[in-house]
Amino acid sequence: MNSIAFIGGGNMASCLIGGLLANGYQRRQLSVSDPEDLARKAIQERHQITAFNDNRAAVNSADIVVLAVKPQLIGDIARDLRTALKPRCAVVSIAAGVPLGALRNWLGESLAIVRAMPNTPAMVLNGAAGLFANSHVTSQQRDTVEQLFNAVGSSCWLETENQVDVVTAVSGSGPAYFFLVFEIMQRVAVELGLPAQTARELVLQTARGATEMARSTASPPGELRQQVTSPGGTTERAIETLDNGGLEDLLRRAMQAAVTRAEEMSNDYSS
Ligand SMILES: NC(=O)c1ccc[n+]([C@@H]2O[C@H](COP(=O)([O-])OP(=O)(O)OC[C@H]3O[C@@H](n4cnc5c(N)ncnc54)[C@H](OP(=O)(O)O)[C@@H]3O)[C@@H](O)[C@H]2O)c1
Repeated sequence: MNSIAFIGGGNMASCLIGGLLANGYQRRQLSVSDPEDLARKAIQERHQITAFNDNRAAVNSADIVVLAVKPQLIGDIARDLRTALKPRCAVVSIAAGVPLGALRNWLGESLAIVRAMPNTPAMVLNGAAGLFANSHVTSQQRDTVEQLFNAVGSSCWLETENQVDVVTAVSGSGPAYFFLVFEIMQRVAVELGLPAQTARELVLQTARGATEMARSTASPPGELRQQVTSPGGTTERAIETLDNGGLEDLLRRAMQAAVTRAEEMSNDYSS
């Protein structure tokens, strides 16, 4: 088993560590570094792993280093780590919008680097992550990185770095799109006469049921939708209203806007 050091002991690091431990990783293979006493204490109490207050000390024997800090801090932190990394280690960055080119400049041209885009449902072990590796990442390192993200959901390897921006628009920002739909459906259900708690339960259970149905069959979602849309019925009337209101165009524009914003954020590091 490779040893993994997390730089930054916040929300994402804590949930990845929890996932690894739940999937059989040994505590002695994991460590974390965070300058905040409270963050270190919280991680130690929750996961009983070694917590450093010195990033360089945390990485010097790690096979995989996960940069789990805010994007605005990552440049200084990565530059500082450059001379402390173990030879032939791999660095994984989960910082949103930080391109491989910038990571390579800070950490070293020949280093194995993976750029990952996880999402918040990782907190409940149902995350979805897109991963993009540079050419220095070995197949064994790929396997370990995959294990890391699969421990809190599922992951997929991407062929080009541009696809990371698309993953950002699909699964990175995606939970918020669904939360917005839940919010609107719950509000309207209450306006139409249901108690708030009933509205919440029906909306969430319906979202879960629809997801499970879509996962349990090879039929595309369009077919499942047609199966519940009887001619002249209530669903047909509702779907017509959504179509006539331009739902598809609206979602297309929203996802395109997220891709554009992700590209702008990456470009900030190139200039
Ligand atoms: N949360 C998500 O769903 C999600 C999804 C995709 C990508 N990401 C990315 O994941 C990264 C981490 O997000 P998060 O939500 O876990 O953030 P977070 O909870 O703020 O965790 C970051 C941790 O790093 C610590 N830190 C600050 N300076 C440090 C330093 N010099 N050395 C080591 N640690 C330091 C922070 O301490 P202080 O609190 O004292 O600053 C904090 O404990 C971000 O880059 C974000 O873009 C997050």
